[in-house]
Amino acid sequence: MSRLFTSLVLLLLIMSTAWSAPGDIHIAIETNRTALVIRVDKDQNPTIVHLGQRLNNADEYAQIAGNGKRGEDYTGLYNSAYTPAGGRNLLEPAIQVTHADGNPSLDLRYVRHESKAEASGVTLTTVYLKDPQYPFDVTLYYKAYQHEDVIEQWTTIRHTEKKNVVLHKYASANLYIPAHKYYLTHFHGDWANEMNPTEERLTEGMKLLDTKLGTRADLFQPPSFLVALNQPAQEDEGEVMAGTLAWSGNYQIAFEVDPLHNLRLMAGINPYASAYTLTPGKEFVTPSFLFTYSSTGKGTASRNLHRWARKFRIPQGKGNRVTLLNNWEATFFDFNEEKLTALFKDGKKLGVDLFLLDDGWFGNKYPRNDDRAGLGDWQENVKKLPHGLGYLVKEAEKAGIKFGIWLEPEMVSPKSELYEKHPDWVLKLPNRQEYYFRNQLVLDLTNPKVQDFVFSIVDNVVTKNPTLGYIKWDCNAVIYNAFSATNSNPSHLYVDYVQGLYNVMERLHTKYPTLPMMLCSGGGGRVDYGALRYFTEFWPSDNTDGLERVFIQWNYSYFFPSIATCNHVTDWGKQPIKFRTDVAMMGKLGYDIVVSKLDEKELQFSQQALKTYEQIKNVLWQGDLFRLASPYEGDVASLMYVSEPKDRAVWFSYLTNNRYKAGSLAPIRLKGLDPAKKYTVRELNIYPGTKSSINDDATTYSGNYLMTVGFNPKVDARRTSVVLELTESK
Ligand code: GLA
Repeated sequence: MSRLFTSLVLLLLIMSTAWSAPGDIHIAIETNRTALVIRVDKDQNPTIVHLGQRLNNADEYAQIAGNGKRGEDYTGLYNSAYTPAGGRNLLEPAIQVTHADGNPSLDLRYVRHESKAEASGVTLTTVYLKDPQYPFDVTLYYKAYQHEDVIEQWTTIRHTEKKNVVLHKYASANLYIPAHKYYLTHFHGDWANEMNPTEERLTEGMKLLDTKLGTRADLFQPPSFLVALNQPAQEDEGEVMAGTLAWSGNYQIAFEVDPLHNLRLMAGINPYASAYTLTPGKEFVTPSFLFTYSSTGKGTASRNLHRWARKFRIPQGKGNRVTLLNNWEATFFDFNEEKLTALFKDGKKLGVDLFLLDDGWFGNKYPRNDDRAGLGDWQENVKKLPHGLGYLVKEAEKAGIKFGIWLEPEMVSPKSELYEKHPDWVLKLPNRQEYYFRNQLVLDLTNPKVQDFVFSIVDNVVTKNPTLGYIKWDCNAVIYNAFSATNSNPSHLYVDYVQGLYNVMERLHTKYPTLPMMLCSGGGGRVDYGALRYFTEFWPSDNTDGLERVFIQWNYSYFFPSIATCNHVTDWGKQPIKFRTDVAMMGKLGYDIVVSKLDEKELQFSQQALKTYEQIKNVLWQGDLFRLASPYEGDVASLMYVSEPKDRAVWFSYLTNNRYKAGSLAPIRLKGLDPAKKYTVRELNIYPGTKSSINDDATTYSGNYLMTVGFNPKVDARRTSVVLELTESK
């Protein structure tokens, strides 16, 4: 009996690890270096048989056994390209539905697929699936960005059943990755403490990254992560996948190590309180999940995402950005026309392109003099600004800089005329106390009338002030009281909110395609590639302490390019202004300080820094980022940006530990240079009255030398931050 059993198990094992059968279809979604391969068997089951390095010969995908399975999976579905719930599935599904007749199961079989070039270097592969028993279709989309090695994946769901179908779960992506060990790096935090990484080994069972905050969804946890295979993530070696969900609302990313020790990944909108009723003939489109796979560590993975974002996602990713002076920390709510016009002159003196007026300029019946009133009443406060915004725009322009403005269009103070006039425009629950986050409520963006209102807030300001140069779009509250008075489907609220928001942003972006816009959410509460379709840049954190920012920016840099990362020099922290400026330069530089309080040297340094920034910004924004020394591993953080032709590089190093003798005791090896080119090294951002011995040395170094032996930036307690420029010497 037991021998018979053993033979049966063996037979099953052999069957399950066999090559594909003749007649199986293989759909290879390939970039220059990566392939995701879907196999369709004789029963039309779509499964993933490969995700990793691309093979030279696509015919060989057919030889890949089972799915890297180390045993029998009972269902044949563990590696489904889109796992349907009910029926024979035993693990976490990608989709779960209740059909019109109450049947709670789904079966998805392959119908056909097609692949077409969308643009140069972009191929879209579409895989059509359907339920054999019900008129229910699921279509999987895979957009492969060849040169950037990025794959964007989303799903559409549609049916023509007699009545509505309820979607309980509807993921964007479902992937399958076999390896020996899996290391997940995820990020967590809170206000002013964004993006703290934790790397952990995934074991059998499920790990969920998820948020239920509605708006400001990433406050505790962003939808971006790294998965390293077989060893913890390394900078320049090893297999690493970087993934992120392009959605500004509730999400759930599930990592499930299955009973065969393979990694299943399901990423999409959070099913929490979000059952979606789909009427016949209507299509539900999920947000995109984006990922890149690298066999040369997380460095390559981030450069892939940066290149992709600049070229394909962020508005004007290859264009210019403005430097600015913001008044938030300089004045908070306490300002008037006189103070502001003085600040315009200060901004000009400093050398920035634009002045950004922050919170506090609006509200009359309930003036916005603190964060307890006025939100929603977007009329200039007549006491503070008797001549209105138009006057300020002109005064700023007279002073020689542009003018930009802060708005928080999605929110309302309970103490506001807007709330008095339209109590039904607010998300709140009947028969319940209202809960406030930063003393405010969220407008009901699921209501088209409210969408029009939110659109008009921005549209009015820009129409009245056509030369306005910048919008900072803030979002300071999470969704409490999750209920809409006008939405007939309470469980559509979270999804409809984000779609309503995107609808508004899409309209604004279409009308003002080149207007620079900052995506802000009480710091970095909303940083994702869904919203970044419409915003030229984002605000990573209200924490602008120079030392803290080394860490915060380091972690954002895994996913987001420097051109989109707004860094302001402020008075936070104990670091000298040079340190804070150097750190802020590694992205989109701005200021939030009282210029008139700078001493002579500080002002001179800052003016020069802005001029230097002008010279190097293209290397910082368009170059490739190489992380050289991690602040998590030593006393010094070091990273460099290298221009695409490798003729210029800018290299930043910071002391991140104050212990005795802490510093760059040895040379740091550079990366990304051309080994054959010769480079001169010159120190930038030298503080007035100090000298750099590095600039006394006229030696040139080959890229080969700099990448093999290295160079010591001489970071120590006296030189806590050092910026070096490498220029090809011909
Ligand atoms: C949020 C933003 C800040 C500032 C304030 C204004 O906290 O992150 O930069 O704009 O709101 O209230």
